[in-house]
Formats: sequence, structure tokens, C-alpha cells
Amino acid sequence: MHGGWNRGWLAALAALLLASLAPALAAEPALRLTAGGTTRSFSAADLLARPDAASITLPRDASYGRPMTYRAVPLRALLAGLAPGDADTVEARATDGFVSQLPLALVEGPAEAWIAVEDPAHPWPKLPGKPVSAGPFYLVWRAPARGPVAAEQWPYALAELTAVDSPAHRWPAIAVAASLAPDDPARRGQALFATNCLPCHRLAGAGEGTVGPDLLRPMPATAYFTEAGLRALLRDPASVRTWPAQQMPRFDRAALSDQDIGAVIAYLRHLAARTR
Ligand code: HEC
Repeated sequence: MHGGWNRGWLAALAALLLASLAPALAAEPALRLTAGGTTRSFSAADLLARPDAASITLPRDASYGRPMTYRAVPLRALLAGLAPGDADTVEARATDGFVSQLPLALVEGPAEAWIAVEDPAHPWPKLPGKPVSAGPFYLVWRAPARGPVAAEQWPYALAELTAVDSPAHRWPAIAVAASLAPDDPARRGQALFATNCLPCHRLAGAGEGTVGPDLLRPMPATAYFTEAGLRALLRDPASVRTWPAQQMPRFDRAALSDQDIGAVIAYLRHLAARTR
């Protein structure tokens, strides 16, 4: 019968179409690199097939807190394929709202930035205390002591790398006043904040991170936290208050000295006084 044949034919055609489309529809994760107006997209397979892909072993991976071995490609070589122009910073954007601003000099320097690539056939373990691994793409450092590189400069679940201007140039409102004494702790606080805090916290809207609250607006954190409360929170957030979804990391003395924390607080106070 005509109708019956038609239905069967349509069903067969639909099945064929679905079968051929399914692999393309299954969203394959990609790492996007943008510099000088050019964007290139790499799949895990693209990166793993590169001739410069290598096995690297890290004696202490900052996110896993233990030795790890990865298949990885040197970030410097990936960036060399694009013209960074005048940019002096690499913005590393993760899928969870964490956005690190990495100085280009650090990325291209002796600390050796690599992009570790999770092979779907050999998935990585879950991150400590998290339901996910560091994949599919993870920015790691082969010689972090030569940076030095901070723990917040190991962005995992990486989606995008973009060549940009430094935070102080993009957001002049978060740069300390030029009139500040050269040895004013707030100056050092600005650099420490950009490295350790800006990936998650904005300041009066400046910044790209969305993991934590804005620390300047609507009310500056320094207006409702005492100095002792802030110091305790940075060392161990759970010592101040605690709940299951808590995400703010703890900063031990190796990450930030007591003096460093003082400098970050001086910086936040400086900005708070200016925006009042
Ligand atoms: C990985 C992301 C991340 C980083 C890095 C980070 N924080 Fe947080 N922070 C959070 C989150 C998320 C919260 C909200 C509370 C929570 O979930 O723990 C928070 C809360 C806070 C609070 C309390 C704000 C409030 O109103 O309750 C302060 C103050 C703070 N962070 C300061 C800092 C400073 C200073 C740094 C850098 C030294 C920093 N944070 C680094 C994620 C981060």
C-alpha cells in the first residue's frame, strides 16, 4: 500500500539521518584560543594528535595535591600559532565561572605552561571533594617554582584562552592611586588580589569571575568583616561559618603570608575608601 510504504520509507530515512547526525550532535568539548581577532578551536583529539603532545609528570599537581601524569601540549606553541598583538595577559576561562588572568610573561617563561588533555578513553580521577575531574582541558605548570605560580593559576575545566590586556589596564578602577607611596602595602595587595582572588571575585563589577560575590559592591567586604574575621576567613573559611555548598578555598601560609593577607586587606580598604 502506498501509505504504508511511505511511512516505512520515512522511518528508515529518519533512522539513517539520526544515525549519521548523532556523533556530530554529541557536543564534543573544545578549547577555544583567541588572539589578535583570530579564534581557533581544538578538540581533545586535535590536541592529542599534535606532534608536540608529550607525557608530562608533575611531582605535585596543585589541584589534585599529589603527583599526576598527563598527555599535554605546550601552551607556548599553541599561542605561537596566533598573533597575540599587544596583549600582555592570557585570560583563562573555565566552564564553572572561574576566570584567571595570567601574565603572558609567566605563560611563556620557565615555569612552562602546558595544556593537559583528558583522553575520553582514559578519564582522570575526580578532584578532591568535587564531583568532576580537572578535564577536559587543564592548564598545568611543569616547573611552578620557577614562576612562582600560585594555586589559583592552575585553571581546570578550561573552555577558553584569550589574549587580553592586563587587569589594571582593562579595569583602571581597580588599580591603586598613582599617588600611593611606592612601598604602600596596597600596591602589593593589588597584584596579590589579581592572582589569588580576581579569578572568582569581582570588585565593583571589574573582573570576569562569577564563582564568588563582588567584594566591593553593594557593600565593601571590609565594611562588614573585622580585620580578624577577614584573616580567619582567608586562612580557613570554615572557621568563620560553614555550610555544605561552601566553595571559597583556604589560603595557607605558603600561599599567602600574614603580611600578604595584610596587603590584600589594605588594597580592599583603599578601594573601599575611594568608592565611598
Ligand atoms: C575559587 C574561587 C575563589 C577564590 C580564588 C577566592 N574566593 Fe573568596 N569566596 C569564594 C566564594 C564562592 C565565596 C562565597 C562563600 C563560599 O562559598 O565559600 C567567597 C567568599 C569570600 C568572602 C566573604 C564574602 C561575604 O560577603 O560573605 C571574602 C571576604 C572573600 N571570599 C575574599 C577572598 C579573597 C581576599 C580572596 C583572595 C585572597 C578570595 N576570596 C579568593 C570563592 C573564591
